[in-house]
Amino acid sequence: MSKIALVTGGTRGIGESISKKLKSSGIHVIANYASNDDSAKKFASESNIDVVKWDVSSFGECEKNVSQIYEKYKNIDILVNNAGITRDAPLHKMSLENWEKVVSVNLNSVFNMTSLVINKMRENQFGRIVHISSINGQKGQFGQTNYAATKSALIGFSKSLALESASKGITSNVICPGYINTEMVAAIREDILKSIIDTIPNKRLGESDEIAEMVQYLISEKASYINGSTISINGGLWMD
Ligand code: CAA
Repeated sequence: MSKIALVTGGTRGIGESISKKLKSSGIHVIANYASNDDSAKKFASESNIDVVKWDVSSFGECEKNVSQIYEKYKNIDILVNNAGITRDAPLHKMSLENWEKVVSVNLNSVFNMTSLVINKMRENQFGRIVHISSINGQKGQFGQTNYAATKSALIGFSKSLALESASKGITSNVICPGYINTEMVAAIREDILKSIIDTIPNKRLGESDEIAEMVQYLISEKASYINGSTISINGGLWMD
């Protein structure tokens, strides 16, 4: 029987590539999304992957949808905590609303989703959890106190979870992508983005597929000894 994977924010950007990559390796994928119905519809018809709309920052919505997924598919073997947003501004200009929004989508969602799947994984003595963090959680970035705080929090979350779960056949790892060719990065002002690319040793943006390849490996049976790791994929922009 094929394994079941749930990818949050799984219909666009890095999440889209992860969903498609996991499907191509024979996994049954469920891709969550929050709001963009048009791209979710397009993604579902192109990929034939099940999509489910809910807000992962709401514990209640996660509880309801995860329980429906268990009813329908019986299991969730793999969780990819990918959903994330930016609301960039230097702290002296940042609103409480944009602080709270980023914390709830990028970080609270990880508590919501992981706490709702962990007990079944422990019962099954198998689970693969991958968190998509960011280079900016490792090094910080001008204008991203909110985003960077949530992305570095994922590293501490993942390491602690790995300690708690290793004896149950569950791994928890973090990937820190650098600047990847997605809509999120394309939204950076052109001159700023150019100056960022100039500082990347590989002199280009990364591709979503380069992140998805690593997820595919981490969730495989072969990767059972990789646990509590933080894996940087950033063209040499930050060596950690
Ligand atoms: N370091 C030091 N100073 C900087 C700076 C930097 N990196 N960037 C800007 N400044 C300075 C500017 O020179 C300017 O100084 P002066 O007032 O003396 O001229 C001042 O700060 C204001 O700069 P801006 O005009 O850029 O300020 P703003 O308020 O209009 O914009 C911002 C702020 C929206 C944060 C903008 O700087 C920006 O977009 N920065 C890029 C942030 C970024 O990299 N986001 C990543 C998004 S993608 C993502 O997050 C995915 C991932 O995981 C990698």
